[in-house]
Amino acid sequence: MKFLWGAATSSHQIEGYNTKNDWWAWEQAGHIEGSVTSGPATDHRNRYQEDLRLAKELGLNAYRFSIEWSRVEPEEGCWDLDALDWYAEVLAECEKLKLLPMVTLHHFTSPQWFSAMGDFTAENAGIKFKNYVKKIVQVLGDRIPLWCTVNEPVIMCVGKYLAGFQPPAIYQPEKCSQLFRGLLKAHVSAYDCIHSEVSHRRGPWRHHPLMVGYAHNMMDFVPARHWHPMERLLTFVARNFYNQSWLDATTGKRPQFGIAGMVPQVPEVPEALGRLTTDFVGINYYSKAILRWRARGEQFETAPGFMFGVGFSDPGEPISEMGWGFHPSGLGRMIRFVKNYRLPIFITENGIADGADAFREDYMFTHLKEVAREIKAGADVRGYFYWSLLDNFEWVKGFKPRFGLIAVDYSNFSRVPRPSAEMYRAWIEAHQAGYAPPEEAILQGVFDKYLKNKK
Ligand code: NOJ
Repeated sequence: MKFLWGAATSSHQIEGYNTKNDWWAWEQAGHIEGSVTSGPATDHRNRYQEDLRLAKELGLNAYRFSIEWSRVEPEEGCWDLDALDWYAEVLAECEKLKLLPMVTLHHFTSPQWFSAMGDFTAENAGIKFKNYVKKIVQVLGDRIPLWCTVNEPVIMCVGKYLAGFQPPAIYQPEKCSQLFRGLLKAHVSAYDCIHSEVSHRRGPWRHHPLMVGYAHNMMDFVPARHWHPMERLLTFVARNFYNQSWLDATTGKRPQFGIAGMVPQVPEVPEALGRLTTDFVGINYYSKAILRWRARGEQFETAPGFMFGVGFSDPGEPISEMGWGFHPSGLGRMIRFVKNYRLPIFITENGIADGADAFREDYMFTHLKEVAREIKAGADVRGYFYWSLLDNFEWVKGFKPRFGLIAVDYSNFSRVPRPSAEMYRAWIEAHQAGYAPPEEAILQGVFDKYLKNKK
C-alpha cells in the first residue's frame, strides 16, 4: 500500500457561511478573539477545484476533509440534497486528481438543532448521529476508503465543559464526562454503521481496505519541574485522562476518563467493551504540554477552579502564532505509545501556525524525521497529513494563526503556496513520488539541497 502524503482541512474552517451550526451562533455572540466571525472563511465552497488542484500540484496523494453535518441536515430529518451533491463533487474531484480521501464526519461543529437538545450529552444523541452517518454512507459511502468518525473527542470535552474554548464554554465537569460517553457511543454506532452498510465500493480506491477510525489529539505532557511531586502526579493523570482513555475506550477496555475530585469517572459503555471499535488510530500532534502546580503568569493557561496551569512552550524558546513551542520528539513518543495498541496509525494532523513561513520547513522536517524513525523501528504508520492545506479559520483565535501550506489573502481569496509547500513537494517527490514512507536519509538529503539552493 502506498504511504499517504497528505494535508488536512475541516468544513467550518474553510467552506464559508456554515450558518446552521453551533459555532456560527457562538461566533455571532462575540466569542472569537477580536470579535470576528467565520463569515466566508476561505470561500472554499466556491474554490474547491482550485484548492484540490493546488494540493495535487504539491504532489499530495491524499486529502483529509470533513463533511458539515449542519449543511447536510440543517433541520432534523431534512436532508439538503444540494449539500450532498457538493460533497459528491469534492469526492469526484479527488478521484480525478488521485487524492485519496479521508473523510471526517464530525469536526467540532454540530447542527444548531442538535446542540439545542444537548449535543452529544443527550441520551439519544447516538441515534441522531447515526441517522446522519447512514445518509452519508448511502449517498457517498461507496467512494470513501478512510473515515474518521469524530475529530479530537477529548478536546471537545475539555473545550466545552472545562476550559471554555468551545461552545457552550461552561464549566460543568459532570457534562465533560457525559460528553465523553456520548462521543464514544456515537463513534461506536458510526463505526458499526459504516461497516455494515457499505456493501459495495467503486472508484479508484475500491480495493483499498475500508478503514474507520478517528483523529485523536495527543500531547506530550511533562511536569514543569521534574522533582515536583504534584506536577509528576498531574502528568500521570493528564496522560491517562487526555491521551490514553480514548484509546482504551475504542480498543475494548474500560476508559479511565475522570480526575479524582474534579471530573467524575465515565460510566462504562457496554457496546464498546471487549471489542475493537476502530481500524486505525489517527494522531493529531502539535506540541508538548507543560504542567505546573499553582501556576501564575503568562506562560501558563489556567481556568477558574484549576490548581494548575498548562504551558505550551519553555521560556525564551521560539513559538508559533499559537504560542506553542517546538517539540518533535513528542511525536515520536506518541507514536511509540500508540504502537502498543497494535493498530495501523495515521498522523491525521501535524502543523504549525507561521504566516511568515520562518519555521515551517524545520517543523515539518523534524516531525517527519520522527515519523521516519518510528517506521524504521517497526511502527505501522501509514500516512502523514499536514495541518493545514491552506490558511483558515482557527476557531477562537479567528483568522490570525496561519497554518497553511498555501497562504490565503482574505481580501480577495487568492491562494499562493508558501515556500515550505515546495519543500514538502520535494520530499514527496524524493520518496518515489509519494509511494514510499518517509526515510530519514532522504528527508535530510532533500533538506540540505534545498537549504544550499536557498543561500
Ligand atoms: C486540531 C483541530 O482538529 C483543527 O481544527 C485545528 O485547526 C488544529 N488543531 C490547530 O489548532
